[in-house]
Amino acid sequence: MTDRMAGEDQPFTSAELGEIEAEARAAIEAASSLPALDAAERDALGKRSRFSGLYRELGRISPDGRKSAGQVLHELRRRLEDMADSRRAELEAVERAERMAADHLDLSEVLPGELAGHLHLVTEVREQLEDVFVGMGYEIAEGPEVETDWYNFQALNIPLDHPARSSVDTFFLELAGSEDARYLLRTHTSPVQIHLLERGELPIYAVVPGRVYRRDTPDATHLPVFHQLEGLVIDHGITFGDLAGTIDTFVHAIFGEQVSTRLRPAYFPFTEPSAEFEMTCQICGGSGCRTCSMTGWIELGGCGMVHPAVLEATGVDPEEWTGFAFGFGVDRLAIMRHGISDMRAFVENDVRFLRQFA
Ligand code: PHE
Repeated sequence: MTDRMAGEDQPFTSAELGEIEAEARAAIEAASSLPALDAAERDALGKRSRFSGLYRELGRISPDGRKSAGQVLHELRRRLEDMADSRRAELEAVERAERMAADHLDLSEVLPGELAGHLHLVTEVREQLEDVFVGMGYEIAEGPEVETDWYNFQALNIPLDHPARSSVDTFFLELAGSEDARYLLRTHTSPVQIHLLERGELPIYAVVPGRVYRRDTPDATHLPVFHQLEGLVIDHGITFGDLAGTIDTFVHAIFGEQVSTRLRPAYFPFTEPSAEFEMTCQICGGSGCRTCSMTGWIELGGCGMVHPAVLEATGVDPEEWTGFAFGFGVDRLAIMRHGISDMRAFVENDVRFLRQFA
């Protein structure tokens, strides 16, 4: 009893307080989980704790003593609560780190002897095509996959009643109210011709790779989402001969000199004259198979001299400038290049197929 604080009135000794504090501190520090910490805090400060017992005893002493003793207890409570709060922050950080470690998925890990990731075959073929055209002095351009009716159809001189506009072939988007401003998924890369012409920078030597969408049922040579490469050349004195030579050059650059290409008269509203270009089917070597529908030829794409109406729609003078455009399916070219008999393999993601093209 020699140790009473601030006179006879104190209901506790400083040694007693020190003991309570040391015990609580040890329990809080030892708590190794959030529930354990809650329990330690309850033991130290809760209703049934020694600490609360002291608080209750304050009622039995004189008002003066009660004030200073209350202060001392209040400070002790604050110290213990601070201690518990900082321990709680530590435990929460540990728990968060453990949770993140458990959720962590290392997608970059390559185990020795395992297959490393690589570009998809269609991407590889697209890059080869880009290299061929960059070698001929073309720029690589891009355009949006979501287009308006104007860019995909109207500016390309595609009349309102053209079958290509029907919803049988086109994915329309419900983004805009009015018919004229209808949004859609581009059905070809030709709308990028319009974007390039609208820049007003002539001459143009550009190729445009990109994804296009059509409401086709997948089969050996069709996918509803596929890739095209568009070409656009606008300059002084460009002729159909330049177009034919360009097609021949890139087909031979990709396939070698032994393959044949041919142009067949065709109709596209945005070119005049227009043609389809075909190459020898590489699956059967030209003798006829399921992939080429027994014709020995595979249609790669369309081409022609840019229609004056397209130039006019974009403010380019057709008296001064002429040019050609072409567009073809990159996926189809890729199956020819690698002797793949069914294009659906590109989207099935069967690694036994994909890993052959690492
Ligand atoms: N856009 C046409 C198609 O997808 C191909 C094409 C491009 C034809 C350029 C002529 C000129 O079928």
